[in-house]
Amino acid sequence: MAETFDIIVIGSGPGGYVCAIRAAQLGMKVACVEKRATLGGTCLNIGCIPSKALLQSSENFHELQHGFADHGITASNIGIDLARMQARKGEVVGANTKGIEFLFKKNKVTWLKGEAKFSSPTEIEVAGTAYAAKSIIIATGSDSAPLRGVTVDEQRIVTSTGALELDKVPGHLLVIGAGVIGLELGSVWRRLGAEVTVIEYLDRITPGLDAEISKNFQQILTKQGFRFKLGHKVTGATVEGDKVNVTIEPAKGGDAETIAADIVLLAIGRNAYTAGLNLEAAGVETDERGRVKTDAHYATNVPGIYAIGDVIAGPMLAHKAEEEGVALAEILAGQHGHVNYGAIPSVVYTWPEVAAVGQTEEELKAAGLAYKVGKFPFMANGRARAMGALDGYVKLLSDKETDKLLGAHIIGPDAGGLIAECTLALEFGASAEDVARTCHAHPTLSEVVKEAALAVDGRPLHI
Ligand code: NAI
Repeated sequence: MAETFDIIVIGSGPGGYVCAIRAAQLGMKVACVEKRATLGGTCLNIGCIPSKALLQSSENFHELQHGFADHGITASNIGIDLARMQARKGEVVGANTKGIEFLFKKNKVTWLKGEAKFSSPTEIEVAGTAYAAKSIIIATGSDSAPLRGVTVDEQRIVTSTGALELDKVPGHLLVIGAGVIGLELGSVWRRLGAEVTVIEYLDRITPGLDAEISKNFQQILTKQGFRFKLGHKVTGATVEGDKVNVTIEPAKGGDAETIAADIVLLAIGRNAYTAGLNLEAAGVETDERGRVKTDAHYATNVPGIYAIGDVIAGPMLAHKAEEEGVALAEILAGQHGHVNYGAIPSVVYTWPEVAAVGQTEEELKAAGLAYKVGKFPFMANGRARAMGALDGYVKLLSDKETDKLLGAHIIGPDAGGLIAECTLALEFGASAEDVARTCHAHPTLSEVVKEAALAVDGRPLHI
């Protein structure tokens, strides 16, 4: 007889581990299967957390080199000890993954170590042992999308995984794809001294973001030394001696050219990861992009099997997966778990940061909705001046008739922190006027959000 649980979650990323903890809080007997030696999935081990550690280190270095002198702080013999920087990143990751292990123990979630494989619609096998559960939740995440002609070796031609592990600052880093990964990891190595060239298929960077913000973002990154080749596709990459020769072509046709790089980072998106799960044994259906098909309550076509996070449709974001994990655990406990997909923030952790929630101007236009725009620059904010962080602005969009907030788009210092207020406003169905009439502490960057809300009604105070 297979050992039986109320819930088995497959995968311990932010979707899976949060779902396991919430289900345990609700009194269920829970197991979580993880094949990696540490818990936390892509986010904690090879994604969000290690990249943020390196972004912080490289930002500190850049500030010391370029920002401190203006404050009257001088330093000589500034150098990079990349081995220490990487070791610190490892320590940050280790503390986070151990933290999940502690939370599992605290909540009595059983960690089944090994790879889960369906043997039937109600049973899985992990390391040769069979386990059964009333509900099995697939939370196996995603994996880097491959590109024909570009063979990843994680040494010279890398995905985000290899780009986080480099033991030398590349002379020339060529990034394929001007999305979130390409720009964040491009920033890390640019700040540490690499030349960075970004090849993007479309004629703009960060396609999901508000177009005006994207344009300004590109200008700021260009000032930082990023080189962009938009409207180009990569057709091949070959390692020759100590270089990687990358062939690119205009997306709309034209002459090919070759660019030599030291390291090539492939960052053209991610695919749902279901390899090795043996979904066929359970009869679970996937869609045309390999994602597990679910209904609005995360149920697959097989009764008792559910899926959440990157492996299903929707934005591939850790916090989206977490929300789904909580919602599903609550649904399975007979409660009314729910995710508001209209209020999921997204953040690009570059300098300055870029953050967004709700709809873009392009989406509002496409939907035929009449809207008002309020914008306010960080340049006119006292705190931003004191910080010396003048790039960027807050842009709020609200319904022309009702003033209900429809979208918030921020490029600037701590945009990722500031978007939380806008997300809450959206979640509560607030109007721009509600935000404008809320007292914001002075002097803080959050006043830029308030001023943008005032600007929606044409009455900003400090510009
Ligand atoms: P992405 O979808 O953000 O960007 C990929 C870019 O590559 C797009 O601009 C696309 O037009 C371009 N592209 C596609 N095919 C191409 C080709 N053949 N040649 C040149 N360009 C091409 O994907 P990315 O950056 O790989 O990130 C993957 C996922 O991870 C995303 O869903 C992202 O949201 C998530 N992520 C989120 C982070 C955050 O929230 N801060 C950080 C890192 C990743």
